Amino acid sequence: MKPIPHAALFDSRHRLLPTLCAAIGLALIAPGAIAQVDAPAAEALMKENKCTKCHNPEKKKKGPSLKTIAEKYKGDAGAEGKLLKHITTGPKVKIDGEEEEHEAIDTKDPKQLKNLIGWILSH
Ligand code: HEC
Repeated sequence: MKPIPHAALFDSRHRLLPTLCAAIGLALIAPGAIAQVDAPAAEALMKENKCTKCHNPEKKKKGPSLKTIAEKYKGDAGAEGKLLKHITTGPKVKIDGEEEEHEAIDTKDPKQLKNLIGWILSH
């Protein structure tokens, strides 16, 4: 009979436990963020619409970073509505000092729009 590989068993448990704890911890800290926002879908939508040409999650490009936008609207209960208007109506904005129409998003799917706005505000 082969000896039971105790060492291996012990090892895998040790790796599993911290991972589990981290996952549970995250879920407790940010239940809303994890349950509601589909980040990859939002990111893909931004890429498809060339929003990423001017917006980066962290860095300022021609447009403010998503972090800056999220900070601006922190605690603003009307944030979702304002951003929805901004990305669907093509308002005039200053881009490199020139007044231009802001890019409007090419989807009218409320689920996609809500997800995108939720993702932007989660930064
Ligand atoms: C040509 C550059 C450019 C592109 C492309 C662009 N944006 Fe912007 N965006 C800007 C600039 C500049 C501002 C800042 C406007 C201001 O504060 O007046 C801005 C602001 C925003 C804001 C914040 C509005 C607010 O009320 O503070 C959001 C949200 C946003 N853009 C989303 C998007 C999305 C989604 C797309 C793709 C459909 C996109 N942007 C494409 C340049 C761009």
